[in-house]
Amino acid sequence: MAILVTGGAGYIGSHTVVELQNSGYDVVVLDNLSNSSEKALDRVSKITGKPVKFYKADILDREALDQIFDKEDIDSCIHFAGLKAVGESVVKPWEYYENNIAGTLTLVDVMRKHGVKNIIFSSSATVYGDPAQIPITEECPKGQCTNPYGWTKSMLEQVLTDIQKADPEWNVMLLRYFNPIGAHKSGTIGENPNGIPNNLMPYITQVAVGKLKELGVFGNDYDTPDGTGVRDYIHVVDLAKGHVKALKKIGENPGLAIYNLGTGKGYSVLDIVKNFEAATGVKIPYVIKPRRAGDIATCYCDASKAAKELGWTAENGIREMCEDSWRWQSNNPNGYED
Ligand code: NAD
Ligand code: UD1
Repeated sequence: MAILVTGGAGYIGSHTVVELQNSGYDVVVLDNLSNSSEKALDRVSKITGKPVKFYKADILDREALDQIFDKEDIDSCIHFAGLKAVGESVVKPWEYYENNIAGTLTLVDVMRKHGVKNIIFSSSATVYGDPAQIPITEECPKGQCTNPYGWTKSMLEQVLTDIQKADPEWNVMLLRYFNPIGAHKSGTIGENPNGIPNNLMPYITQVAVGKLKELGVFGNDYDTPDGTGVRDYIHVVDLAKGHVKALKKIGENPGLAIYNLGTGKGYSVLDIVKNFEAATGVKIPYVIKPRRAGDIATCYCDASKAAKELGWTAENGIREMCEDSWRWQSNNPNGYED
């Protein structure tokens, strides 16, 4: 029995393939490499000492999916494949709805035709919108998303929920990630954004490595201890391990289950800058800029449901997150291009 990992060459996917292989699972990766490199999988293979079975294919390509499901003995799917750039989604909403929504509908249809009814879906804290409560529990109502990317996550959660309701043989795990950062300890795989990074940690590491001049801090007048935005940063290896725990849970036939995957701790933008400097000894020059449209003041979770039901708790602290992000970036200033 194998686990199909869509988007497995990407940032979170590649780290999850490592943890799955290290836990003894047979893994099949499917990725169209639109935002990743096959080299990530070569490096995964070096870390685990096992080959990675890879299909270059698109989740919109029904025929290709059919062939993979015919050939491989797939039991469950961990579904990472999707486009994820918030700003780009505002400019290209159709492309985001087609890739993320039509792609997932195609995947799920092929899955059910082949009798595979276990899916772990990459959702996001973005579905809470401006959260009704802090810390955010899974009972917190979903909110208004501020961009098409966020809506694809929110809508796909609903689609998968309805499919599970109509056919209780499905196990649907909706994992709402908070802010993944960090990289594998080896420093050989990590986040590899295209162009100028939108997210905080890759921006900081690119300033540190000398590719960007200074960090722009988006607003210092929020209602937070130092006025800058507060988020729940989680080490990507902890996040990857959360998927292994979720897969074990599927063995109990949970039906529909929703989990926040975060640490439950909030750090401001300036906290991250200070922690990065302390962990790496590299100074990060910054300037205060206006608020970024669509940003909220504070977002961190109550992670106790995952602790209780999955037996999963994030182990790495902010120091490891900073050290490991930096090891990856400084060893690979151009990502997988070198
Ligand atoms: P990523 O871009 O590194 O990985 C996504 C992978 O999916 C890439 O390798 C890309 O080539 C592939 N892909 C995209 N469209 C595809 C298609 N049509 N067919 C086949 N492959 C396709 O992103 P990531 O950070 O690893 O995120 C993984 C998942 O987690 C995404 O669904 C993302 O929306 C979600 N997520 C990410 C974050 C985050 O901050 N990184 C937070 C919350 C949720
Ligand atoms: C972003 C996405 C969100 C996604 C989440 C997961 C946006 C608007 N939202 O959330 O949909 O689910 O990632 O990781 O992109 N910041 C700066 N300067 C920068 C970059 C960021 O000050 O150059 C600040 C932001 O204002 C925010 C914090 O750093 O307060 C974190 O930002 P970011 O890494 O982009 O993540 P989120 O906005 O939380």
